[in-house]
Amino acid sequence: MKTFPLEYESKKEILFSPEKPEKFEADILEIGPGRGDFLLSAAEQNPDKKLVAIELDKRRHRKMIPRVEKKGLTNILLIGGNARIALPRYFKPGTFEKAYVLFPDPWPKKRHYPLRLMSVDFINLLTDCLKEGGDLFFATDFWPYADWVVDNVAEVPRLKSLGKPYFTTIDDMAYYSPSYFEQKWRKEGRAIYYMRYQKVKS
Ligand SMILES: C[S@@+](CC[C@H](N)C(=O)[O-])C[C@H]1O[C@@H](n2cnc3c(N)ncnc32)[C@H](O)[C@@H]1O
Repeated sequence: MKTFPLEYESKKEILFSPEKPEKFEADILEIGPGRGDFLLSAAEQNPDKKLVAIELDKRRHRKMIPRVEKKGLTNILLIGGNARIALPRYFKPGTFEKAYVLFPDPWPKKRHYPLRLMSVDFINLLTDCLKEGGDLFFATDFWPYADWVVDNVAEVPRLKSLGKPYFTTIDDMAYYSPSYFEQKWRKEGRAIYYMRYQKVKS
């Protein structure tokens, strides 16, 4: 199944803030930070670590810039572009110790499944970018998406679930604080599904 028109995507400009670095080195990755609530809190908690956030929506990417500046955070690199393109283009395999995908767009209709972010291909890409022993964290309020991710991760033998048997609790989500969407869904009383996977030797 095709996932995204990547050839077209690869021609689009990629934005950087504060600027495009000479070397792409970092510790923590977030894909699709949206407003950046989790990102900012994780950066504040980890002043000695470098964080990278890749946001597809350029408007959201731009809106995060003053939020980062206002907090005086100098350990965040914001990338405006498609993670499917930016991740393999700029980051070497084994770069990150932690990667987060929080509340990706659910695309509930079956015909839209190819637009869902956490495909087997993308999970493989994220796994490549993790160090051995590194963690991939995932959260959603949408059960069918959680179930789909469980199936997709099963096709990536380099990832081992640290949940019981698949899902974990919020306490197991390192450096965690609820994102904008998590706060919104919690207010509505929705259940949240958390997953934590570790990259093991293949
Ligand atoms: C539902 S929002 C969740 C935002 C945030 N994580 C939260 O929980 O509040 C999903 C975000 O993922 C971004 N996104 C979707 N596909 C992406 C991709 N291929 N690369 C980077 N970001 C992506 C969207 O633009 C959007 O900001």
